[in-house]
Amino acid sequence: MIKYQNEIPTKHAGLIQWVEEWANICQPDQVYWCDGSQAEYDRLCNEMVESGLAIRLNPAKKPNSLLFRSDPSDVARVEGRTYIASKTQEDAGPTNNWIDPVELKKTMLDLYTGCMKGRTMYVIPFSMGPVGSNIAKIGVEITDSPYVVVNMAIMTRVGTRVLDLLGTDGEFIRCMHSVGKPLAEGESDNGVWPCAPIDKKYISQFPETREIWSFGSGYGGNALLGKKCLALRIATVQARDEGWMAEHMLILKLTNPEGKVKYVCGAFPSACGKTNLAMLIPTIPGWKVETIGDDIAWMKFGADGRLYAINPEAGFFGVAPGTSMKSNKNAMLSASKDTIFTNVALTEDGDVWWEGMDVEPQGTLIDWHGKEWTKDTVDADGKPVKAAHPNARFTARANNCPAIADNWEDPQGVPISAILFGGRRPSTIPLVNQSLSWEHGVFMGSIVGSEVTAAVISDKIGQVRRDPFAMLPFCGYNMGDYFKHWLEIGKKTDADKLPKIFFVNWFRKSEDGRWLWPGFGDNSRVLKWIFERCDNEGEAVETPIGYMPTVEAIDRAGIEDEVTEADMKDLLSVDVEGWKNELEMVEKDHYPKFGTHLPAELSKQIEALKARLG
Ligand code: OXD
Ligand code: MN
Repeated sequence: MIKYQNEIPTKHAGLIQWVEEWANICQPDQVYWCDGSQAEYDRLCNEMVESGLAIRLNPAKKPNSLLFRSDPSDVARVEGRTYIASKTQEDAGPTNNWIDPVELKKTMLDLYTGCMKGRTMYVIPFSMGPVGSNIAKIGVEITDSPYVVVNMAIMTRVGTRVLDLLGTDGEFIRCMHSVGKPLAEGESDNGVWPCAPIDKKYISQFPETREIWSFGSGYGGNALLGKKCLALRIATVQARDEGWMAEHMLILKLTNPEGKVKYVCGAFPSACGKTNLAMLIPTIPGWKVETIGDDIAWMKFGADGRLYAINPEAGFFGVAPGTSMKSNKNAMLSASKDTIFTNVALTEDGDVWWEGMDVEPQGTLIDWHGKEWTKDTVDADGKPVKAAHPNARFTARANNCPAIADNWEDPQGVPISAILFGGRRPSTIPLVNQSLSWEHGVFMGSIVGSEVTAAVISDKIGQVRRDPFAMLPFCGYNMGDYFKHWLEIGKKTDADKLPKIFFVNWFRKSEDGRWLWPGFGDNSRVLKWIFERCDNEGEAVETPIGYMPTVEAIDRAGIEDEVTEADMKDLLSVDVEGWKNELEMVEKDHYPKFGTHLPAELSKQIEALKARLG
């Protein structure tokens, strides 16, 4: 017998039946339908504080904010346990983990059986994108984690208005989640973050049936299923089938001193500063950057043949370490209230602290393990211990961001003029270059690479990994076919209506290991050139790797001493040998993976680039 904590707020028979099926499998104590109200959010927060799972921060420092500490085994996305369970392995392609969907469902159904004993099952109806936008999609997440409910309330649009839109038979994406830790009779979590051991964690996408089954993790993209699972892995498949684009991209609004506006998207691998770029404060006078989104863009063609983007999310799930008033003031202000912090350190006065905050830690802190910590704390080997986990996060409302654009929720989306690709590349890749054509731009996107960072559990931190379009862990089908989809998109409209494509690299180093470019707010100088190029202005030279600015074309007023003319020449040089090497790597280790799925156009791009390099 299913016990409902509140009345079922929908007459959607398919939805009710789906929830009942899962309730029968998972056997929760009760089922609760979320309405997305502030009262519900406050009640769940209070319950988690009372049960010891969350700490309420000092309201004088961080109003209406909580701190959570996760289990040390549950601190990031688990790519090794993430599956694209399409009917055939070929459809999942060479870059995704694949298990036959029938087999995977059997394994997971065993795990789900009785997995919510002693817990409440929450049903979260949510919209990715402004409710009712023709680019938006509706999902429903079932979860046994109140932490997930309150995070989803910030990251998506939750509640009754979504059910109203769904009506009695509307389409929704089924998102199933459990932390995978049933409770015995009378047992409680005792303030310990519930999750399952790593070999029982599964983050599974079933592309043909548009389903998501997640088990065993309560953290970030593993558990907040609207984000990476729906808005990228499932949405890429829908986008392929329906002729639009679901991308791992920030969206920013750029206004020049004359008040002219352009919108720019940018794809960068995880932890390459997307959030910083989306909220950048320009160092050049008169220019304005405003935020539309910091992680995901959904783009559809408008009636005028241009691509229009929405941010499907409603909040930021940002990496805390390294975020400071200097590196990203707008993110700090976004997270100054109404915020959920996970795995950061707690200060004596009930505030938060993390490495790279540019504030000296005062006295004794409590680190992300819940242990006392001072700046002199070392481990058994004498190595300094970090107070915050490197992938500690803040979940903050987009509406609390001082830089949020007033039209960020426009249901029509915003017309995109430029697409940027980038990564952390200490060598070879210049500060900026513009593709010679859409096809050349697709080639550039297909070879994106970056140094591995802490956003994902991996043993390869520091090495460069190819991360095409920054979509390596997020594409829900064969990546070779995804390249083809990009090429197809380029054929759907007039060339001059397509966004122009650029490759940027803020992370180039000199031969003696010095960062050549200051980054952060000074990236506006590069955005200025990009803006000009979108109007076919901005001084550029055609080089073998694309159009590049002359040294003078990048506005350096005020930073001439910091970035000398020699540095600029370095930043804007074509490293012919480096590029030949790069192409060799692509031809040897990257493109062959895709076999017959690699579009011939991309091989032609390599040949043409080789010829241009001489
Ligand atoms: C993220 C990621 O959390 O890309 O946004 O890892
Ligand atoms: Mn991301």
